[in-house]
Amino acid sequence: MFLDTANITEIEAILPFQWLSGVTTNPTLLAKEKGKTRAIISREILSLLDENQRLFIQATGETQAELYEDAQTILSKDARIAIKIPADQNGFCVMAQLKQERPDVEILATAIFSVEQSYLAALAGCDWVAPYVNRMANQGLHATRIISDTATLFKQLGVPTKILGASFKNTAQITETLIAGATDVTISADLVEVMMANKLATDSIQTFQLHAKGGRI
Ligand code: G3P
Repeated sequence: MFLDTANITEIEAILPFQWLSGVTTNPTLLAKEKGKTRAIISREILSLLDENQRLFIQATGETQAELYEDAQTILSKDARIAIKIPADQNGFCVMAQLKQERPDVEILATAIFSVEQSYLAALAGCDWVAPYVNRMANQGLHATRIISDTATLFKQLGVPTKILGASFKNTAQITETLIAGATDVTISADLVEVMMANKLATDSIQTFQLHAKGGRI
């Protein structure tokens, strides 16, 4: 599981549970951390992660050259950084170029809304594709069908590309995504809390506490 945030407090709160394989960010999440640059936020997050946990940072740029340059800048900072590249025409080219030049660099194709994009990202050598589940649902797309078709296709092709589900607005979307064939998910801190705080469970636990203290049955 990855945490989808650029907020240090949220990361610090979830890290002790030891679920996290790392943290995913995007330009929107970074912009929410007002007054801090991408470089500062990245340094702060990396200081909390161990050597096996990854930090995903998204490269941006209007042209292929800008996107490639930004990816190189991001990757030069720390070996635990994996690069997110948007799955569009410029992005597909940059993914392939980066993989060819630096096979060890881990690449996630982001902003995935179709099996076709995932197929092209896998051909470019990406390590992960990130389907945007809730944004698909908002457009009437059948996200779990797209994810299970992607998983089937990757298996048939024998490619090692993994599916990292992203963009969730409720917990059912998360479990459906995993059951459909995603190997990983990235979740907001709010939804991780919802997953932990099952109302029926907390009511039962509270009653047990009361009885353990000698409360009346
Ligand atoms: O990781 C991508 C994800 O952050 C997009 O999520 O919630 O903005 O649709 P959302």
